[in-house]
Amino acid sequence: MKIIGTGSAHPKCAVSNEMLEKFLDTSDEWITERTGIKERCVISSEKLEDMAVLAANHALENAGLTAADIDFIICSNVVNEYVTPALSCIIQGMIGATCPTVDINAACAGFIYAMDIAEDKLKCNKAKNILIVCAEEPSRMVGWENRSTCVLFGDGAGAAVVTQGDDLKAIRLTTSSLTDVLYYQRRLEPTPYIDKPEEFEPLVMKGREVFKHAVTNSCRDIRKLLNETGLEANDIKYYVLHQANRRIIDSIRNFLGVDEERVPHNVERYGNISSAALPALLDELNRDGKLQKGDKLVFSAFGAGFTTGACVIEWGI
Ligand code: COA
Repeated sequence: MKIIGTGSAHPKCAVSNEMLEKFLDTSDEWITERTGIKERCVISSEKLEDMAVLAANHALENAGLTAADIDFIICSNVVNEYVTPALSCIIQGMIGATCPTVDINAACAGFIYAMDIAEDKLKCNKAKNILIVCAEEPSRMVGWENRSTCVLFGDGAGAAVVTQGDDLKAIRLTTSSLTDVLYYQRRLEPTPYIDKPEEFEPLVMKGREVFKHAVTNSCRDIRKLLNETGLEANDIKYYVLHQANRRIIDSIRNFLGVDEERVPHNVERYGNISSAALPALLDELNRDGKLQKGDKLVFSAFGAGFTTGACVIEWGI
């Protein structure tokens, strides 16, 4: 696998911490100190598929390809307005592609899971060019009266076009069924036969437990990948980490013992945009001209499940 194009898109409505102070018992000081987040962009008049298509088209343009060149689309998504059809089907039509598509849900680790699936398809020649689109609107899962969760998230999309190549040096996925630390239940239609109690509530999160799992698992994944590839922590140009919380990012950086410039972040501007965080940050680095051919990159993400994914990439464009 080789990444040949990146793209991203964020909703136009930027919500600052000060704007949240107006209807929540919170403060810019608390949010900044505990999370590093200053603002987040949330869906207002846009639809999530509009964000996804913008990101996808940026990635195609960056790769120098058109939708007709794409053999498969993988969309990573936790929620959107449709249960069916899959968001990837909607994206396919809107960008004018004709290939098969699939949606996956590995929560915030979705981009790495999508890359793993793409790698397998490319390796066995089932596809030549694959479009990965991560499109997320966690702002529609949280309760906006709950200061412990709603301040953390934003919406957005990130995309990458991948093709056959040898740039993925190592990859690691893990899932451990820890379903009570972070979950959101879908409201289903009632039927005349349902006689079990069903309660629906906004996203539930045990913040401290999630924090602990995030740091421990991400550090473990990265350590294992560095060992496997024989690389030292300082051989890596950038650690592109899931943008959930600045304190989590800093804890991982301290564990690795690397300088701040190797661990880029944009969580302060976008909050946690779930699986879109990694490709969106990668797109920023790419468009800012910060990536050179041959640079070694580590990606690492974690999410509800509990899922984790990490990989080592050699940048090839
Ligand atoms: N503004 C002000 N006070 C807040 C607040 C907010 N937005 N959110 C919570 N608080 C309060 C709590 O009510 C609590 O008050 P109390 O002591 O009077 O009960 C106090 O702050 C401490 O809450 P706690 O949850 O223990 O804080 P924390 O230091 O663990 O920070 C998180 C909370 C959510 C920022 C932190 O646990 C975290 O980042 N967890 C990981 C979350 C994450 O990344 N999730 C996504 C994974 S993909």
